[in-house]
Amino acid sequence: MKRILTLFFCLCLLTAIIAGCQKKGPDVIKVGVVGPMTGDQSRFGTDFKNGVTLAADQWNEKGGLLGKKIELVIGDDQHDPKQAVSVANKIVNGGAVGIIGHFNSSCSIPASDVYNRASVPMISPASTNPELTQKGYKGTFRVCGRDDQQGGVGAAFVVSSLKLKKVAVIHDKTTYGQGLADEFKKALSGKVEVVYYGGIVQGDKDFKSVLTSIKAKSPELIFFGGIYPEMGLLVRQAKELGLKAPFMSGDGSYAEEFVKIAGDQAAEGTYLTFSPDPNNIPDAKDFITKYNAKFGKEGPYSIYAFDAANILFTAIRDANTTDGKTVIDKLHSLEFNGAMGKIKLNENGDVTAPPYVVWTTKNGKFVEVWKP
Ligand code: ALA
Repeated sequence: MKRILTLFFCLCLLTAIIAGCQKKGPDVIKVGVVGPMTGDQSRFGTDFKNGVTLAADQWNEKGGLLGKKIELVIGDDQHDPKQAVSVANKIVNGGAVGIIGHFNSSCSIPASDVYNRASVPMISPASTNPELTQKGYKGTFRVCGRDDQQGGVGAAFVVSSLKLKKVAVIHDKTTYGQGLADEFKKALSGKVEVVYYGGIVQGDKDFKSVLTSIKAKSPELIFFGGIYPEMGLLVRQAKELGLKAPFMSGDGSYAEEFVKIAGDQAAEGTYLTFSPDPNNIPDAKDFITKYNAKFGKEGPYSIYAFDAANILFTAIRDANTTDGKTVIDKLHSLEFNGAMGKIKLNENGDVTAPPYVVWTTKNGKFVEVWKP
């Protein structure tokens, strides 16, 4: 009898412990930060990680979120779409309640299927392909612009400022690179002749053959839809082949690593489209000071990652829950004052006012040169 009573008592105790644990729930709020953390595009992954870390540290110093500490789960998609889906599944299964990422549209778009199925909100700081927010997923957001807008601004610059008549258009065959090149080409239609159009393979190192074909067509500018490692090599090798036409690219080439790969001389006078300099945004001053004190000079996408994280944390706080559907609703109604100024996410998940300007490379540095 005594044994039965002891056993009964132990069982009751165990049940009480389990019930207590279940009621308490996890004592951290997990948020995924995903992008190319390693490999040749890791400059942008580092921007994401540092930007979100700064935001999370600031919230944690003030007591965290819903009384819990924010814990970041860093995912490395290596800018590979398959890896992106696998990392997305892993992070969702690990209990993340929101995602800041991915960087590449070719990763964000397939990964958004995973987050949508799990009702986990995702905010990309950088994926600009229009398709990302056209899939009808209520929980997919971005805080950057779109390539139809970016390509249009690049084309407007070529037409109305440079007044060119003949251009070459190449891309890296990725969702982003080809998409941007096509938007640029479409916006030139009827105004500028595209004398060469073609793709290169991301990861290749020798582009002399395609550049030789382009040279034979004598374009006045070469537009590249792609990311800085290939843009740097293209610009360097074009210079070696004696091509005089300047290059133009998009946000994926905005990295000081581009200038390092191309070399100062060859990079001089190249153009790209990106958002305006945050140094001229009053609200960004505090972010820039704190980021630079913690991580050294801010990268192009660190402020986007910082704002994306703060928007997510604010939505969770205001919703007073980490329940995905409730947080997603809150994200749609939020009017947020971030380091980049006012941000409002529209019903598609896009920002309402995405600004693009044209930058050029001068003495090895990017400087704003034109705005529409
Ligand atoms: N804007 C680039 C992309 O969408 C980074 O892939």
